Amino acid sequence: MKVSVRVPATTANLGPGFDCLGLALPVYNEITVEETVMPGSGIEINIIEDSETYDVLSIPKDENNIVYKAIELLYNFIGQSVSDIKITIKTNIPVTRGLGSSASVIVGGLIAANELLGKPADDAVLLSIASEVEGHPDNVAPAMFGGFCISSIEDDGSVSYSKIYWPEDWKLTVLIPDYELDTGIARSVLPENVPFFDAAYNIRKCAMLIDAVYRRDSELMKKCLKDKLHQPYREELIKGFKELTQLTENKEDILGCVISGAGPTILIISQNKGFEKIENEVNQIFNDLNVNVDIRTYTIENKGSLVL
Ligand code: HSE
Repeated sequence: MKVSVRVPATTANLGPGFDCLGLALPVYNEITVEETVMPGSGIEINIIEDSETYDVLSIPKDENNIVYKAIELLYNFIGQSVSDIKITIKTNIPVTRGLGSSASVIVGGLIAANELLGKPADDAVLLSIASEVEGHPDNVAPAMFGGFCISSIEDDGSVSYSKIYWPEDWKLTVLIPDYELDTGIARSVLPENVPFFDAAYNIRKCAMLIDAVYRRDSELMKKCLKDKLHQPYREELIKGFKELTQLTENKEDILGCVISGAGPTILIISQNKGFEKIENEVNQIFNDLNVNVDIRTYTIENKGSLVL
């Protein structure tokens, strides 16, 4: 028996919502988990590149694979251990680009294995295992449930999430560069402590951002996609981010420009023809920096993970 699950890409943080906000994008990985027929055959992990997703060769194909680790935790949760299993990952989501490729395969593997086991775990358990493996819930929640999600790891390790309607006409343009950035490196540049007033700045931006989304208030949203907790420390690693932040400041119909997750992809949120009006200047910035960039504009993905 085998089960396949389709899981969307995600963009996390949205500026002030570090490790807390994320939304799903309509690009998908497909994860298939099957019990192998031959007992004793162990773990088999296959990666199939559906489109050019970059660097899939670096994905481990043994017990160190994150999908396997997540499935192992699920088996442990029900008091069993994994023995013979085949995992196939069809990748469409660019890898190590800040688009939630790892969250998508973790979530897909967990949902597929849970189906195979007869659904012993509910969504709350799957969300908490996935967040534990990923290290934070902001990509995992929208990868599971789609849409725009707020998520929080609670003191007891459980994960809470809320899904809020995201205005369909707020377009999501991702600028995916031709270089990779490991999330571990992008997290290692963050300080252990931040100035009190920077924390207070982010609290007010993040709180207002939720209200702006809830009320579909694009004028308010323009003031909210700002951050002092992670972007200032990461901007040296993200080519073009400073230039794009300047370019998009106070531009009509541009709501904001933020780092997608830990980068290096940059996300520009716009409405109407906002992005088209600046597209040539955006291309020029990357040309000047000698960075090839894949520019894609999406509307939000609201379905989340789907068992096929
Ligand atoms: N919130 C995470 C970070 C997203 O910014 O490091 C990356 O997976």
